[in-house]
Amino acid sequence: MSAVTDLTTYWDRYAGQLPAPPREDALKEALRWCQYPDHGPGAELLGDPVTALELGCGRGDAVAALATKGIDATGVDLSVEHVRAAHEWWGDLANARFTHADVIDYLSDTRHRWEAAFSIWGAVWFTDPDVLLPLVRERLVPGGRLVFAQAPAVPGAYGIQGMYANGFRGRQVWVYRWAYEPEMWAEILKRHGFVDVRAWVEPAPDPDDVGTLIVQAVHPHVREARRATPAWRRQ
Ligand SMILES: C[S@@+](CC[C@H](N)C(=O)[O-])C[C@H]1O[C@@H](n2cnc3c(N)ncnc32)[C@H](O)[C@@H]1O
Repeated sequence: MSAVTDLTTYWDRYAGQLPAPPREDALKEALRWCQYPDHGPGAELLGDPVTALELGCGRGDAVAALATKGIDATGVDLSVEHVRAAHEWWGDLANARFTHADVIDYLSDTRHRWEAAFSIWGAVWFTDPDVLLPLVRERLVPGGRLVFAQAPAVPGAYGIQGMYANGFRGRQVWVYRWAYEPEMWAEILKRHGFVDVRAWVEPAPDPDDVGTLIVQAVHPHVREARRATPAWRRQ
């Protein structure tokens, strides 16, 4: 296989290593936030949205699972290979859409708004929250939810985390991730205007194993609704 030379190639290579279960099995396991099969919360964390956006959708299994429930679901991913596979696997579902883009570019360019945005060990983990969260907030409808899951922080190692993506003898390519304790995530989300923030580490089936950081936050509908109401109606 060719050397990893950039982030897209890194994620393309990752895409090529994923298992390819039967479609029904992929759908069953799709909207799981935890890394352990049939463990932890599921789609209920998203509430009851009519539209949803996945940030870093990979092969698009979660987008497909939502689309089969009638939700208008869109997935964005940086990997050409993942988006190609998503179209191949789920392109027949009327409510599923997939786009190849960096989430920052995508959210900056779109005028669309969603009722839910989510990331399952996806782009939220790999993007500076101070850049990403204002854009997500902008693109959620009032009262819309953001939910994301990723690995919990290694104790004492917070903020930006870097790793070489191509080993120590390969091309210089690096991946950044952002890690915080649940209460730090809650602070960050509140600072960016989200409300009703819940952040916790969901324990693994064996509590000595690595758990899952899950964060849920809501777009502040009261303040936004006031802004959307014409001045004459507010008097
Ligand atoms: C660990 S995978 C998880 C994929 C999928 N959510 C799943 O559960 O299988 C992380 C995904 O995030 C995508 N990603 C990382 N950074 C991104 C960015 N800045 N914009 C869009 N996608 C990104 C990668 O291409 C990859 O598909």
